[in-house]
Amino acid sequence: MSVQPTHPSPDPAAGAAVKAADRAHVFHSWSAQGLIDPLAIAGADGSYFWDYEGNRYLDFSCQLVNTNIGHQHPKVVAAIQEQAAKMCTIAPGFAVDVRSEAARLVAERTPGDLDKIFFTNGGAEAVENAVRMARLHTGRSKVLSAYRSYHGATAAAINLTGDPRRWPSDTASAGVVHFWAPFLYRSPFHAENEAQECERALRHLEDTIAYEGPSGIAAIILETIPGTAGIMVPPPGYLAGVREICDRYGIVFILDEVMAGFGRTGHWFAADHFGVTPDLLTFAKGVNSGYVPLGGVAISAEIAATFDQRPYPGGLTYSGHPLACASAIATINAMAEEGIVENAAAIGENVIGPALREIAERHPSVGEVRGLGVFWALDLVKDKETREPLVPYNASGPANQPMADFAAACKRGGLWPFVNMNRTHVVPPCTVTESEAKEGLAILDEALNAADAHTA
Ligand SMILES: Cc1ncc(COP(=O)(O)O)c(C=O)c1O
Repeated sequence: MSVQPTHPSPDPAAGAAVKAADRAHVFHSWSAQGLIDPLAIAGADGSYFWDYEGNRYLDFSCQLVNTNIGHQHPKVVAAIQEQAAKMCTIAPGFAVDVRSEAARLVAERTPGDLDKIFFTNGGAEAVENAVRMARLHTGRSKVLSAYRSYHGATAAAINLTGDPRRWPSDTASAGVVHFWAPFLYRSPFHAENEAQECERALRHLEDTIAYEGPSGIAAIILETIPGTAGIMVPPPGYLAGVREICDRYGIVFILDEVMAGFGRTGHWFAADHFGVTPDLLTFAKGVNSGYVPLGGVAISAEIAATFDQRPYPGGLTYSGHPLACASAIATINAMAEEGIVENAAAIGENVIGPALREIAERHPSVGEVRGLGVFWALDLVKDKETREPLVPYNASGPANQPMADFAAACKRGGLWPFVNMNRTHVVPPCTVTESEAKEGLAILDEALNAADAHTA
């Protein structure tokens, strides 16, 4: 068995070869291929990864907010190796021990009666199938989703998405209608407090439903706590209000927990903070920290019953893949045994939250701090009074220089940040230690001077 190095060992020649083959043959996501310069990565362990030049980065992005259990957790690595030796693959039509056990472990943790699990290879496919289930269950076609959302890059999922990545793929005929979810700091409703924001956001949703025609609406999909769009924790009562509206109109309520689920917010699911049970819940990322691609939909008893005698018209060759399921079992068990969800909650409450609030006071560029667990956003502004974002919406090139300067300063300091539009998200692994969190926060603090330089 090969042993992973746990520290950087520079090998620039190997790095150059990796880079050359990448540039020759790899077509990267979301990118103009001629304008990117991907960093060649040599290894990863726990909260860190490193390049071939000997630079080590504290991973405050969890890659794409998926390595909740950190890099190379030994129990998960061992489970994949054991399963590979036993049975690498088997078609989804068979019952197999790892698929059964992974489904049981997920169902045991999902709220309410979400006890049947349809496995996918990732988040977008989970969303795609949740929407399909809702449409078939209701016999209706329209789906409502929030501006300020991300739901994935496949056909339905990208049309549900509320950020500019939708625009080039928006057919305007995908049966999706967008609405505004609550976000007090940049309130679409001119609200002055959370209670007002909640009440007005619910009224806006009801109005949207009334004008779109309730009898044609299959589902409302929301990220329980929107992730990529800015980590906006909904005000008390909002999700319960959406649940009530859905019940009143016979609309399926889908909560997308692809990013917020599996410990990130300090609970197994973000829905646990609000005491709300959706009809369908989508998950991926943290279910096995992405060690092997896996996602899924947790399905309520009522929706599952729709497909008791009638076939569900959807499937994937790798649905419930044994290597992915084995890694999910090991991940969930390790998270439970090692108190990893509790660690995320405690680090958020005792270390990250207080430190970020202090940082906000020192830096003119930090407009708002929001989040919980290991799921935080800093809203960067030109001016704290006007709240003008540090860079315009969807900025690129020179207009995005302030955020580029900030990100470069983080990397120079040894921190890999998550940056989106005018925000940086503090999203380390749920396993992050107090000293690692403090190390990262100190680098972030210093790097924010680069953002401050662009304030009014
Ligand atoms: C909330 C949410 N839903 C869906 C997705 C799509 O997941 P995937 O990239 O695994 O398809 C993401 C990815 O970031 C996400 O954050």
